[in-house]
Amino acid sequence: MWWTSYVQDRMAANEQVNEMSIQGLFSELDGLEQEAKDRASGVDTEGELTALTKDFLGKKGRVQQVLRGIGSMEPEDRPRVGARANEIKAILEALFAARLADLEQQTEDRDLAKRKLDLTLPGRVPTCGVAHPIHAIRVEMEGIFSRMGFDVARGPQAEEDFFNFEALNFPPDHPARDMQDTLVIEGGRLLRTHTSPVQVRTMLGYELPIRIIAPGAVYRRDDDITHSPMFYQIEGLHIDKGVTLAHLKGVLTHFAQELFGDGTGVRLRPSFFPFTEPSVEVDIACIFCHGDGCRVCSRTGWLEILGAGMVDPNVLRDCGVDPEVWSGWAFGVGVERVAMLKYGIKDIRLFYESDQRFLSQFQR
Ligand code: PHE
Repeated sequence: MWWTSYVQDRMAANEQVNEMSIQGLFSELDGLEQEAKDRASGVDTEGELTALTKDFLGKKGRVQQVLRGIGSMEPEDRPRVGARANEIKAILEALFAARLADLEQQTEDRDLAKRKLDLTLPGRVPTCGVAHPIHAIRVEMEGIFSRMGFDVARGPQAEEDFFNFEALNFPPDHPARDMQDTLVIEGGRLLRTHTSPVQVRTMLGYELPIRIIAPGAVYRRDDDITHSPMFYQIEGLHIDKGVTLAHLKGVLTHFAQELFGDGTGVRLRPSFFPFTEPSVEVDIACIFCHGDGCRVCSRTGWLEILGAGMVDPNVLRDCGVDPEVWSGWAFGVGVERVAMLKYGIKDIRLFYESDQRFLSQFQR
């Protein structure tokens, strides 16, 4: 029929027109790409580049304008043109980014070229760590005792019940164990509750006479502003012929005066520990009010710093030391306690928080 061929002719003609306008679009896009490349290489400043980028890729930019024409195209042609436009967009984005990097580099190079070597600038001082206050005070205490002739001994932190309790005269189920509750490890060991087991290990393992201190970490089920579940102690043990409490008082007085200043008084008060007899608590004259009475010493004029006593003859015998021939004393001092008094620190937890604002104050 006549109109069939007419329609076919029209459609063919339309397609041709279509194809032509699509080709036109493609070459327009190609032109855009070329133009963008030329202009980007001619740009000298970052500001110019920003303007150029906006001109091509902005919301009302040249690429977008071409894309706007897509709406009037045949639906089957749109994807082809869209894909090409997106490709160009990506090419231009990469192009502008690369150019921006070039320009930034040039700016930096120019800046560096202007600079001169300035030998008057101060050097960079490396930051230097400081000893932790607990470590520092422990070293200081070790120094005081080693100058008095004490050796430094050590023992394990994961200790056997025998050394921590049994050999120190704490029978199983003895109520004094309650004050030293600790973590028991599978296999029969426990985290030592004090450094006193080193007394036993030293008496069993070394020749007499003995004069040692034993610093180290100890553990107890305790946690408040003056007690920590892990803290440090220094044990002292002196065994010889004719040793008495007077020697203890002399040694501790010297210790207190070295640490807290000349004239610091020391007093002994009766106390109880299963492994010493007699046992004493040792106080120093309050370093804040010098005995007048203040808040820190609860108006007593004295500060308790350690426990001590004459080593119980039962303990000596169990450790193979003849109490008829030898006698001796022992003490145990809390390192944190001493550091808190010396530096006026009210909360023990500050020692374990690794806070630079706290630790850097101990720079010497
Ligand atoms: N070990 C005791 C404690 O931690 C202190 C102490 C040591 C007492 C030595 C007497 C002799 O409480």
